[in-house]
Amino acid sequence: MTFPAACPLPAQRLDEMIDALVEQGFYAGKALIDPGLCQALYREVEDRAQQDVLTRAGIGRGRDFEQRLDVRGDAIHWLDRESLAQRRYLDAMAELQQALNAALFLGLFEYEAHFARYPEGAFYRRHLDSFRGRANRVVSTVGYLTPDWSPRAGGEMVIFDEQAPDREVARVAPEAGTLVCFMSEQIPHEVLPTHRPRASIAGWFRRNASLGGIVDPPR
Ligand code: OGA
Ligand code: MN
Repeated sequence: MTFPAACPLPAQRLDEMIDALVEQGFYAGKALIDPGLCQALYREVEDRAQQDVLTRAGIGRGRDFEQRLDVRGDAIHWLDRESLAQRRYLDAMAELQQALNAALFLGLFEYEAHFARYPEGAFYRRHLDSFRGRANRVVSTVGYLTPDWSPRAGGEMVIFDEQAPDREVARVAPEAGTLVCFMSEQIPHEVLPTHRPRASIAGWFRRNASLGGIVDPPR
């Protein structure tokens, strides 16, 4: 299987996504990412896992960075446009960025994204995606890549209520083609323990946050 020269998100689904972001702060849609593109991206992350060239993820940035297996167990690789598949995916996200800016005036100016692979048994405890005091991640996206996901495999992403963070509002199976997006500073979420390796691309649209004269660096 291969993928087309461009893999944009269907225009009508973009509208659906924007409405849901405004109304409930999140959106989850199946079959949004081209199947051939998912397969190519999945191979990339699995190849990297086999070659043992993924990096253990952590929490916090800069001097606050820590590896905490009790918090998150995935291994990552930042997208850098090195493959055609990565470029197609990032181009689709650039279109989403334009649509979000046009509809919601969010002033998103940049997108950063990494592959994430959760080995069997891994999870990511409930969290928000923005770092304290650094309100620069505005909208989060997660695209799922693992083919043939079964309900027995666990690994769902759970979305919680913004006002009542103990109340679950949605549970999303990480099956290839599904795309989730949500407001980074508002929506608590977690990844339940997975019973088989689970691959995704997590990404963030950012607004530049200038703090004390320092232009906030990415990542
Ligand atoms: C993250 C995250 C969710 C998922 O990487 O911050 O919440 O379903 N990922 O992979
Ligand atoms: Mn997250």
